[in-house]
Amino acid sequence: MNHNLITKIALFGLLLNGFYSNAQKTNLKVNIANSITKIQPTMYGVFFEDINFAADGGLYAEMIKNRSFEFENPLMGWSQPNSDRHSFNTQSGIATTIKVIENKTNLNFCRVVVKDDKGYQIINEGFRGMGIKKDAKYNLSLKAANHDGAIKQINIQFIDKNGKTVGETTIVPLSSDWKNYTAQLTATQTEAKAQLKITFKGTGTIDLDMISLFPEDTWKNRKNGMRKDIVQLLYDLKPGFLRFPGGCIVEGKTLAQRYQWKKTVGDIETRETLINRWNTEFSHKLAPDYFQTFGIGFFEYFQLSEDIGAQPLPILSCGMACQFNTGELVPMEDLDPYVQDALDLIEFANGSVETPWGKIRSEMGHPKPFNLKFIGVGNEQWGPAYIERYKVFEKAIKSKYPNITIVSGAGPFPEGDYFEYGMKELKKLNAEIVDEHYYKNPKWFRENATRYDSYDRKGPKIFAGEYAAQSVAIASPDNKNNWECAFSEAAFMTGLERNAEVVHLTSYAPLMAHEEAWQWTPDMIWFNNLEAYGSANYYVQKIFSTNKGTDLLSITKDGKAVTGQNDLYATAAKDSNTKEVIVKLVNTKSDTQSVEVDLNGDKLASKGTLVTLVSANLDDENSFANPKKISPTEKEFKLNGKKAQLTLPAYSVTVLKLKMK
Ligand code: AHR
Repeated sequence: MNHNLITKIALFGLLLNGFYSNAQKTNLKVNIANSITKIQPTMYGVFFEDINFAADGGLYAEMIKNRSFEFENPLMGWSQPNSDRHSFNTQSGIATTIKVIENKTNLNFCRVVVKDDKGYQIINEGFRGMGIKKDAKYNLSLKAANHDGAIKQINIQFIDKNGKTVGETTIVPLSSDWKNYTAQLTATQTEAKAQLKITFKGTGTIDLDMISLFPEDTWKNRKNGMRKDIVQLLYDLKPGFLRFPGGCIVEGKTLAQRYQWKKTVGDIETRETLINRWNTEFSHKLAPDYFQTFGIGFFEYFQLSEDIGAQPLPILSCGMACQFNTGELVPMEDLDPYVQDALDLIEFANGSVETPWGKIRSEMGHPKPFNLKFIGVGNEQWGPAYIERYKVFEKAIKSKYPNITIVSGAGPFPEGDYFEYGMKELKKLNAEIVDEHYYKNPKWFRENATRYDSYDRKGPKIFAGEYAAQSVAIASPDNKNNWECAFSEAAFMTGLERNAEVVHLTSYAPLMAHEEAWQWTPDMIWFNNLEAYGSANYYVQKIFSTNKGTDLLSITKDGKAVTGQNDLYATAAKDSNTKEVIVKLVNTKSDTQSVEVDLNGDKLASKGTLVTLVSANLDDENSFANPKKISPTEKEFKLNGKKAQLTLPAYSVTVLKLKMK
């Protein structure tokens, strides 16, 4: 072949290449000058639910399970390895529990009879073990009554899985009456599955209660507080709100088992332990040792909201037990105490220290109001029974507290009879914010980015209160927090943001799960007793939440919103505080995509930032071994004129941030 011909073929090839790449390039237009609507500061929040050991055994740093012997089986979590309870003569001691009926909320204590010096011991197993870290300090407290003074010393030791002592301390129980004692242990090695062993010097009888153990190193160094690593993950999300305490936990399987906030405030010891409704919910994931001590109660939730800069959003029972369980209803004529709970909660959060409930808040250490703005009535209720009860709450709350915004609910599903009925009735009632839930497959999320485009702008605002892509099926124990689920949620979230005029609050659910004690998956954050990590879904939430902006801008392809054409989703916003334009792009295709974003309407600096969240495979996941496998990377971005040229990797979420001049 002669030289000329080769050059011609090569040139033709180049032209062809150029033709194809131009043809494949997607052109998007952003109008910076025109703010379409405000993006609410509450747009991206977190939904805390006491499921999967999220409170006791999770966020609450208490390491002793069943510290006050109030579980249904009062010695659950405690063992006595060298006490043979069946052969009275050979045992070296015995622990039993005694119920004091007049003690209404902390009924039981533990009576230990030490019979000889053969080393009788009681051991607490923790929440699937106790995570201890070398050289870290742990604060122990207990109550004891040493009746005849025969027990000379209580020895307290961390033991590892082989029974070796890995930290110890002692207490001398001087008083024959109930008295509080404290001591500190330092761990001599890091151990994921430590336990706490208690032995005694002397023989005789001693009563014990509230045996409690916390790491010294807690969030904000609060005594007996929350796990620092977990709260840090929440804090890093910069959430706009914190919804608590659930979920179905609010409703209870029966009304007696509903969440009653008044029983969760005040002295920790008087907070009545309750069986957790997730305890036996799923036969494939039984957790018979799942109880609520309410060490984290409503005061702590309000305080946590304040700590992480989130609006508190409590949800209360509306007199209906979970309709997936008993669906027990409180008769309308007996609804008053439930309504009163809502009114009193507002006083607890916002009332002056002169008011009865404001005084309790103040005595708990927070004289300043918590500035509560929202309250939720019912969780996932449906049908006329809900609407009937909601009306009563609405009337009572609005007549006393007209500035409080009420969140109502449209039931557990995003479509169907329950949803249609609930929405129709709530619209008639001019409901302010309606909570919608969707646990669907990843494809549904990709296909529903336009869900809110058709919502009435004058109707109720939307709280997308519980959503998560399910890789297998709702409530399947095989669901994974995989990359396909995460980027599909991101695609959907562009639709939430693009409809910021209607959608005011959104949250992934559930928030967290203990690696060995979960009931529901997927979950945004996974933890064990030593560590916690954010899933891929966590980083999707983070990338949206920390780049939400204050004003929605239009971003279009051929004059239309970008809602999945060619597997591309996009949204744009302006942040009037940081003076930035933010473009979010989600490529759900298995190939890279070239995109040109034409930014008009204002001058932009030539340097910006490009944040990318990407992973090669649909089933990639983060894990304890590789917690940041899927996490954002940042690099500098150069803008030439008004056009941003981007190559979006396959299966990726990209955020482009450009400073306005
Ligand atoms: O998040 C798990 C459960 O899903 C919630 O408790 C409930 O509201 C929903 O059905």
